[in-house]
Amino acid sequence: LPKAQVFSGIQPTGVPHLGNYLGALESWVALQDKYSTVMYSIVDLHSITQPQDPQMLRENILDMAASLLACGIDPTRSILFQQSQVSEHAELSWILGCLTSMPRLRHLPQWKMKSKQKNEGSVGLYTYPVLQAADILLYKSTHVPVGEDQIQHLELAQDLARIFNNQYEEFFPEPCALLSGTRKVKSLRDPSSKMSKSDPQKLATVFLTDTPDDIVLKIRRAVTDLTSEVTYEPESRPGVSNLVSMHAAVSGQSVEEVVRLAEGMDTGQYKNVVAEAIVQTLQPIRLEIQRLRADRGHLESLLAKGAEKAHSLAAPVMTEVRKLVGF
Ligand code: ADP
Ligand code: NA
Repeated sequence: LPKAQVFSGIQPTGVPHLGNYLGALESWVALQDKYSTVMYSIVDLHSITQPQDPQMLRENILDMAASLLACGIDPTRSILFQQSQVSEHAELSWILGCLTSMPRLRHLPQWKMKSKQKNEGSVGLYTYPVLQAADILLYKSTHVPVGEDQIQHLELAQDLARIFNNQYEEFFPEPCALLSGTRKVKSLRDPSSKMSKSDPQKLATVFLTDTPDDIVLKIRRAVTDLTSEVTYEPESRPGVSNLVSMHAAVSGQSVEEVVRLAEGMDTGQYKNVVAEAIVQTLQPIRLEIQRLRADRGHLESLLAKGAEKAHSLAAPVMTEVRKLVGF
């Protein structure tokens, strides 16, 4: 396997949905076969940039751990851990924050989107991308799986590696993007927007823990249009096209193959086929989440072991960083 350090993080903001799975997690699983060191972090420090109920946050962290494992993240081949358990993340974030100007952060997407929703935001939300840079650089990561929406944040990590190296000495490699999110799953109720956890209408989103009945109901109620034929025309027929692309993705077929298979069906009949294909993919994942979630102690000990491994990589890097900075 090529010598590389892969790092990515996901916020513990609830059970992942089909968009997270097809757009990110499925490729995270595949990376375990391609690279020597692969790290996935449940980034709880990032999640408190929005108000969180402590009890709920603790459950969400375990939900995310169970979900990642159920999707195929294998703790013997990757380091799965909770960000806050490795305190070096926060320490490096402080040091990198001191190398960043306020204007450099002002136009980054996380701040622009989330602070606008509330008309204000915390300092933590403002420096969110600095913490992301610290997550990545702390392990001298070389490859970062990201969605397109995160490219600007990765660019900040690249800048900060360069700035640190100029200020002190050549130390951090410049991490490069592994673009994963080319497959966008759209909201079932409003296919002009993406399927999202923060979608207030739960009917618009298929979660990994949805039962077969939930999935059938949600797909049946998915927005289509007045044409009964099944075609793939994302611009003019976004609803039907979203069904086709989800179907293709979960069944591992091309869009053309799926459209050919749907010949002669109307969209109503086709929805049953799509729902069935999604159930086939998600059913084993749902059952595995359930199984893992029933044993809290086991999940907590897996996370503790992951944190220990992560810490053993982070500690020597931070020792060097502290020396370089002059502490
Ligand atoms: P959400 O918008 O549901 O909160 P996140 O922003 O936490 O999702 O995204 C986690 C990962 O899942 C990111 O890599 C993101 O690009 C990917 N992702 C999120 N929603 C979708 C979607 N609808 N289709 C494809 N990928 C998605
Ligand atoms: Na995000």
